[in-house]
Amino acid sequence: MIGSVRGTKDILPEEIPIWYFVESTLRNVSQLFGFHEIRLPIFEKTEVFQRSIGEATDVVNKEMYTFIDRGGESITLRPELTASVVRSVIANNLLSESPLLRLWYYGPLFRYERPQKGRLRQFHQYGAELIGSEHPEADVEIISLAFEIIKGLGIKEYRLLLNSLGNLQSRQNYKQALLNYFNEQANNLSKDSRERLLRNPLRILDSKDPHDIEIIRSCPLIYDFLDKESKEHYQTTKELLTANGIQYIENPYLVRGLDYYSHTVFEFQNIHLGAQDSFGGGGRYNELFKQFGYKTNVPGIGFALGIERIILILQAQGFEPVNENIKIYIAYNKPEYLPKVIEIARILRTNGISTIFDLQKRSLKAQLKEANKSNVLFTIIVGDDEIANNTLSLKNMLEGTQSNLPIREAFNFLFKTLQ
Ligand code: HAM
Repeated sequence: MIGSVRGTKDILPEEIPIWYFVESTLRNVSQLFGFHEIRLPIFEKTEVFQRSIGEATDVVNKEMYTFIDRGGESITLRPELTASVVRSVIANNLLSESPLLRLWYYGPLFRYERPQKGRLRQFHQYGAELIGSEHPEADVEIISLAFEIIKGLGIKEYRLLLNSLGNLQSRQNYKQALLNYFNEQANNLSKDSRERLLRNPLRILDSKDPHDIEIIRSCPLIYDFLDKESKEHYQTTKELLTANGIQYIENPYLVRGLDYYSHTVFEFQNIHLGAQDSFGGGGRYNELFKQFGYKTNVPGIGFALGIERIILILQAQGFEPVNENIKIYIAYNKPEYLPKVIEIARILRTNGISTIFDLQKRSLKAQLKEANKSNVLFTIIVGDDEIANNTLSLKNMLEGTQSNLPIREAFNFLFKTLQ
């Protein structure tokens, strides 16, 4: 037997209804907010991610699926989609058509992480990016979109964490202060954090190491380094969130795992997920277009939700989506009746009624057993009498009753009842 690759998951038919529910909610709410879908390649040139996510991040450092293709080019399976969106916006000159872009996406991503509950190597994200506005209104619009999706999905007991990383200047000052502080403690830091100290001290705040966390507790806080512009942006964002009825918890240690963020960052956490408690997050990225070599600085803000984690939450909440049953099973007792059966199935399907029939030349008894197991609403029986008299027998599977009707009447009845 060939097993699946570690960290990948087969999504079996029984799980599909919950995926459909999540996917249709995402689509509907995105549309309500005027966002348009964008579909991008599964792989990109490696530099797309290296340049944007940051060399010091775990994602770039340890988790990318990177390979040299047959043409000698370094390719990476996308570990996130914000970088791909920015690449595409620039490559397709989308900003020349509209100075404000509202985009959403959905699809699989790849990160070589240690698999555990809620952490996979191939997983799915929904994300949205609002590109072209630097104003706090845009921050609140994007958080409102996330908020409405979470509400539409019926997720309860979650919290929204909020922080500001300020503009470039504020962040540079803060990084210097962190550098001074952590340098003095360097000997007590974990090996990973000592490396982070050299590349990007902000990353240390993300450490899960218990000793690091002790040291982090007394480190300088970003709020003391925000300049006037950054403070105003943050303050207005918070006021607008409150005015919109969106509750948040401020967390000065929230830096998120990617390096492109500035100003607002946020994360959604839920108690049902254990260690992997974050089911979504995002933030502003006002310097990302410049990093891609674009002619001007284009401000942007976005977020992404982890679909597998959302499904775990919904399942833990006892959510049961309505399973779309197949409506009709056609059973027949002689192989020569098959053309008639195929014709009946075609008419029903053309009229939007899902229909199946036997394809294994089984006995009528076995077929009726399968009809029962398939939870169909009606079984049509095509036997000798039905063929001789041009009728159909309809068995109502819920009530257990059976009737024999002329074929046209039988169809009319089914169209009326099932369409
Ligand atoms: P991220 O925090 O790296 O952000 O990922 C967002 C969400 O994807 C996480 O909160 C989590 O639910 C899910 N996720 C991440 N890694 C895994 C994994 N290995 N297995 C299962 N789920 C996972 C981003 O990716 C940013 N691009 C979000 C963003 C958009 N920022 C601005 N715009």
